Amino acid sequence: MIKKVVPANSLKGEIILPPDKSISQRAAIFSLLHDGISEVGNYSSAQDPRSTLSCVQQLGAEIREESGKLIIQGTGRQGIQQPASDLDCGNSGTAMRLLSGVLAGSGISAKLVGDESLCGRTMTRIINPLEQMGAHILARNLAYAPLFINRNEPLKPLKFELPIPSAQLKSCVLLAGLFGEERTQVIEILPSRDHTERLLNLDQKLVQGRKIISASLSDEIPNQSYLIPGDFSAAAFWLVAGAIQNDAEILIENVGLNPTRNALLDILGEMGAGIIIENERIEGAEPAGDIIVKDSDLKAIEIDPKIIPNCIDELPILAVAMLFAEGTSIISGAEELRHKETDRIMAMSKMLKAVGANFEEKEDGLIIHGDPEFRFKSAEFESFHDHRIAMASAVLSLKGQKESKIKDAESAGVSYPTFWEDLDMLKVES
Ligand code: S3P
Repeated sequence: MIKKVVPANSLKGEIILPPDKSISQRAAIFSLLHDGISEVGNYSSAQDPRSTLSCVQQLGAEIREESGKLIIQGTGRQGIQQPASDLDCGNSGTAMRLLSGVLAGSGISAKLVGDESLCGRTMTRIINPLEQMGAHILARNLAYAPLFINRNEPLKPLKFELPIPSAQLKSCVLLAGLFGEERTQVIEILPSRDHTERLLNLDQKLVQGRKIISASLSDEIPNQSYLIPGDFSAAAFWLVAGAIQNDAEILIENVGLNPTRNALLDILGEMGAGIIIENERIEGAEPAGDIIVKDSDLKAIEIDPKIIPNCIDELPILAVAMLFAEGTSIISGAEELRHKETDRIMAMSKMLKAVGANFEEKEDGLIIHGDPEFRFKSAEFESFHDHRIAMASAVLSLKGQKESKIKDAESAGVSYPTFWEDLDMLKVES
């Protein structure tokens, strides 16, 4: 689907976000592992969480909806069932990597499949540690999905230092570890999102600045009865849209404010964005609040590579903010972006090129020469079937002089099913 976006004069209104994608997917998987009932409120209806939910169902969870909540009867770790057919993870790296950990740990044999984008993303990062734990994984060209996972030998514990700061890899190994008699330890050097250890209440300690998280069969799996907060990564599009658009004021309600996820707030604050956080509270095991953003004069920023994992999904929209900031901004140490739903550094470059921006592409990031007065007439954006590139291009389109077009616009539904309606609702057109 091609979406046409006409420029906006002003952006005003209130946004109710889609529920957090990462937390929704974990809630589904952890409810399967809990031996009993979980009640998950505000589960996301986006494509990725739906894929995870149907995989969890195939593995034996009984799921029904009651008064807007999912009631999930888990199987417990001992009761996971052999799926009758392949587990389809769709576009979701989180589903494929976390479920691989569950399969390797439980010893259930299954095949994990995904769409073209997911089948093009490397899985060696999870194959290596899971094989060290005793799993046997057949992968296309030794690295790519479909993955066929089984285990014919006893599960071995692992002491695993994360070679990259990835929450999916961390979670995968910990989930396999939850099935072992002896403790598996994951050692994290740079913090990545911590939803898994929070929601499972896993043992964590800090040793010389490194976090050691451990898991074994003796850990109880708590039920997952809580309300899922709004997705900070979805809020990011409106935070930037509000900051760069003349005459903007947007209230974003119930935003997840997990500190391992929201580095963009500090970044935009340092750039000079007018952001106010209100009603801070705890939703389940996760902090949340409401955010108001107003149009602001932005200045350039150099991102510390150490905080890249805490804003990894927000970098496409941050590049848009940088384009309208005074001076030269730098994103570096972000080579991981090349392994997302698409090669996002390439996709961000194509997006910036489509509007004639002044920037340089690097192997591990971008250098963007911004200008608050930057204007372009109109553009045709490729989104490469990547939800975050489609949505970042839409926010950029609001700053054009004429109508722009975004290809594969339906991909927004992977994380944000109502994105286009929300964009129309906020827009006061020229
Ligand atoms: C996610 C972790 C991140 C992120 C992805 C969701 C998760 O990936 O980019 O959108 O839910 O754990 P990596 O852990 O591979 O960096």
